[in-house]
Formats: sequence, structure tokens, C-alpha cells
Amino acid sequence: MEPFVLPANAMRARRGIKWRRYGDAVLPAFIADMDFAVAEPVQRAVRRIVDQQDYGYAHREDRDRVEAAFAERMRERFGWEASPERTLLITDLLQGIAAAVVAFSEPGDGVVVQTPIYPPFLSGIDGTGRRRVLNPMVDSGSRLVVDSDGLRRVVDERTRVLLLCNPHNPSGRAFEREELDAIGSVAFERDLVIVSDEIHCDLVYPGAQHIPTGSLGREVAARTVTVNSATKGFNIAGLRCAVMHFGSDELQERFRRAIPERLLGGVNAIGIDATIAAWRHGQPWLDQVMGRLRANRDRVAAWVAEAVPAIHSYPPEATYLAWLDCRGLGLPAASPQEFFLREAQVALGAGGDFGPGGEACVRLNFATSASILDQVLERMAAAIRQAAAL
Ligand SMILES: Cc1ncc(COP(=O)(O)O)c(C=O)c1O
Repeated sequence: MEPFVLPANAMRARRGIKWRRYGDAVLPAFIADMDFAVAEPVQRAVRRIVDQQDYGYAHREDRDRVEAAFAERMRERFGWEASPERTLLITDLLQGIAAAVVAFSEPGDGVVVQTPIYPPFLSGIDGTGRRRVLNPMVDSGSRLVVDSDGLRRVVDERTRVLLLCNPHNPSGRAFEREELDAIGSVAFERDLVIVSDEIHCDLVYPGAQHIPTGSLGREVAARTVTVNSATKGFNIAGLRCAVMHFGSDELQERFRRAIPERLLGGVNAIGIDATIAAWRHGQPWLDQVMGRLRANRDRVAAWVAEAVPAIHSYPPEATYLAWLDCRGLGLPAASPQEFFLREAQVALGAGGDFGPGGEACVRLNFATSASILDQVLERMAAAIRQAAAL
């Protein structure tokens, strides 16, 4: 077994939501945390803080180091010149997204998203009193793709923000340059601010690539706010440290005028050191993890093809999430999520939460050991067989 893979008993001893929410009988494959030990450089950084009981206020210098490490990583991995001066530390991406929506639109204005979409995007729009504008992705026959004509159609006079998930959760798409250019054109034509959530940028499989929205070209970059962190790629979501990058001084100034700095709070000092360690020294660990994730992704694809061909699913190009359309199964429960929780004791993400059209789907997190993944898939297949026999 790879050194970073943790067995179920080690996972159950953790206090996070993933293994505690549904109790011991259920295998959790819902929330996007990985069942893996973290990279040693991250552990070392956290251990140093604990050993030295270094729990005071973070020094401005260390906050600057996060911004510098972000710019360096974006340049090295994606060829994107992010600006440390236009980077702001925030505690988490959802905070940054909500703050950007408030800064760049008024109550009642539209915020457009590509559905199905990570549910907090939708609740973030509702929670800030903005209006959901939905542009469903379309099935190309080999993957879900952005419908740019649809985007042009649904964006109305009062749509101000385009909330993009790049790479896309839950479809697992790493968008092609053409798709991003088409999105950028609509944003330019309709004067939209793009808020691009790139938290899954480090989890892209060979054959696909991550293209930062802020790298697309001057006009698009200038209207793009990027939110990102090391938390998803390096499995440190509880440490609460993220960045928000403004593609132009003007955008940053508009944000500053709209959102008082104090409302953004302060970033956790442990998160700061862990983030720097992850971005600067965590890549060898991440390379190994990507090997496991890739094998698991292929395992899920083979399982769909061989054991449950009535499920419709495309292997993700990025993320450790599989989006499974269960319509063809004709399940007896109100939703497939309820069915698998009750009949298979497997907890999955409920597709209905990802917007209209997702009701017959579930999202499966496959970032676990080969053996736990096998158990998850066997339990699901057995429950399906049993339901079909009734
Ligand atoms: C697309 C996306 N954005 C944001 C988050 C959560 O980020 P944070 O915990 O920094 O708010 C997740 C977590 O799974 C995610 O998938």
C-alpha cells in the first residue's frame, strides 16, 4: 500500500466530518476530503508550530510569503503570472466568492453558473440575495461541456457576475481553452466580472490541463477574480487559508471600496505555514497521490462499464469526484443518494443539491484506498442487484 493511504480505522479515529457524520456502519464518499496522510513537509510545518507553541499573531512577512508562493506556483505549474500585490489572503474560497458577489453586484442582480454545480455556489448566490442564472452544461457524447450559446441566452441585463468552477465540480471537467475563451467573450460582451474558483487545479490527470482563467488574455484577466488554495490538492481543508487574486488594479479597488477589510477577518497562522510548505515542497507527495487517484478513477470507470452499465458517467479529467447519472437504474427511492445510504450504507453527494437536473445523480468521492473504494463499489452494486431482483 502507498505510504499516504490510511486504513479505515485510522480514518474513523479522525474528528472531521467525513468519517463522523454517518457513523461506523456507513462508508463515506460524499464530502471532498481525501483518506490520505498529508505531505511530510506540511506535517513538519504544523509540528513546528505545535512544538514551539507558536500560536500568536502571524507576522506580515509570512502572509506575504503565501502571496509569493502562490505567484511562484502559478507561474511554474501553469505559466500564469499572478501578481502578489493583487493577491489577498482570505480564510476560505467560499468566503472569497461571497465577498466578490457582494462587491460586484447588487441584491436582485443575476449571478450565472454552469449546472450541475458545487452546491455552495448556489447557496452563496441565494444567501447574498442575488438571483441564480443557470446555464446547464450539455452532454457532448463524451463529456459535459459548456454551452456558450446557452450562456449568451441566459445572461440578462441584470446579470453582473459569472461564477466559474475551473476545473469543474462535479463534472470533473478541466475546461479547454476554446470553452474558456467562449466564456471570456460573453463576460466581455456583457460586462460581467468572472469569479473563478480554481481549488481543484492541482488535481488534473494526464491528457488534460488546467488553464487559469486569469491567464486567458488581458481583457478577460482584467475582469477575473481568482480564488484558490492548497487545501484541496494537499488535503488540509480544515486549516483555513486561501487566496483571492484580482486581475487588475481597478477590480481590486472596486472590491476594497465595497468590502471593509475587517469583514474578511484574519487567516489562521497554521494554515499560512501549511500552505507555504504544501506549495513549495509538497509536489512529490502530490505526484504519488495523483497516481492513486488516477488508478481509482479508472477503477470507477471500469466498474460502471462492467458492473452497472445502466449508470451514465464520464471519467473526470480533474478532481477525485465521479458524477454518476443513475436515471437508467430505475431505483425505488426518492433519490439515488437516499437509496445508496439506506440500502448500501454508502454516503454519496446528493445530485439534487447541484441544481435542477441533478436529481437522478450522485457524486462519488474516490480519494481513498483501493480496498475502501472496492468495498464502496461492491456495496453499491449489491444494492442495485437486490433492488432489480425485487
Ligand atoms: C469547487 C470548490 N470550491 C470550494 C470548495 C471549498 O473551499 P473552502 O473550504 O476553501 O471554502 C470546494 C470543496 O470541496 C470545492 O469543491
